[in-house]
Amino acid sequence: MSIVDYLGIELPIIQSPMAGVQDHRLAVAVSEAGGLGSIPCAMLGADAIAAELSAFRALSDQPVNVNFFCHQVPQADARRETGWRNALQPYLNEYGVSTIPPGPDRNPFDQAAATAIAPFRPEVVSFHFGLPSAELIHRVKSWGARVMSSATTVDEARWLEAHGADIVIAQGYEAGGHRGMFLSDDLTTQMGTMSLLPQIVRSVRIPVVAAGGIADERGVKAALAMGATAVQMGTAFLLCDEAGTSAIHRRALKSADSSHTAVTNLFSGRPARSIVNRVIRELGPISELAPAFPLAATSIAALRKAAERHNSGDFTPLWSGQNTSGCSEVSARELTLALAGALEPA
Ligand SMILES: Cc1cc2nc3c(=O)[nH]c(=O)nc-3n(C[C@H](O)[C@H](O)[C@H](O)COP(=O)(O)O)c2cc1C
Repeated sequence: MSIVDYLGIELPIIQSPMAGVQDHRLAVAVSEAGGLGSIPCAMLGADAIAAELSAFRALSDQPVNVNFFCHQVPQADARRETGWRNALQPYLNEYGVSTIPPGPDRNPFDQAAATAIAPFRPEVVSFHFGLPSAELIHRVKSWGARVMSSATTVDEARWLEAHGADIVIAQGYEAGGHRGMFLSDDLTTQMGTMSLLPQIVRSVRIPVVAAGGIADERGVKAALAMGATAVQMGTAFLLCDEAGTSAIHRRALKSADSSHTAVTNLFSGRPARSIVNRVIRELGPISELAPAFPLAATSIAALRKAAERHNSGDFTPLWSGQNTSGCSEVSARELTLALAGALEPA
């Protein structure tokens, strides 16, 4: 069965869930165009998750994907926090930031989140950083949802298949946002989409979705030719009318800066791809001082806020993949149809 039939969608295009930059509006536009729209829930509490799904269902009767993180919650480590704070102190002084409010919430998928989504019976539930417990997977599947998760290595793809994933997303190193890596934190294990995709296709029996660096119809066709049953794209949607991408983030994506991205742990504690900005340049993309995910986000979020007040993206996570050539300021419907080679005649 093709993934299109498997998921009840018309086009093999999945819009990446992108926490912090989009909500149900982008998802509705993509699902209504025939792709699979995604609602990122990693930074939302139970009430906000229910509100997002309710808004989606009010506007569309097409399938939807809801996305969660499933990391281990770390113990706070006072020594590491102090080291990190010291590394950021010159910048905090520069902006006159003396109090650090609590950082952005990033909670792993749990029973409360499952309870919030259950009444809406989302057709697809996807995860980043592995999978939740067998009990939670069973609960999600009890209403017929398909379970999807990102693999950044062949081992991770095999692990996901063995632990209940219905679909695996091969996330190449080009991809924007967080690396979904969960079996190893060694960045030298990470491969580009062209290398990763065919190896995962050969190694698992479940359908494989390609993600990372795909930006146009030819890229979609290439991924399908290499054995993917669909593609998941994030960066290409960041300038769409329905995306909530901030003005500072949009400006960076449209500038020459977007040709230089790096995988960095500075913004959250986990490796994620961002356009290189001042803090990445000055501290280096990977810092051993950064506290464990998601604790590193707290101090830098305060700096980000202060810098953004001065219209600066120097401390903003400018999440982006390596290929921004597909970003354009159009409706997500137009982009989805163009990616699938299904543009309606004008
Ligand atoms: C701005 C941004 C935010 C992202 N946030 C998430 C997220 O919340 N959950 C997730 O599973 N993946 C997230 N990703 C990664 C995507 O799932 C996917 O791997 C990536 O978009 C594919 O590469 P591309 O950006 O080159 O298209 C994000 C990507 C971007 C660009």
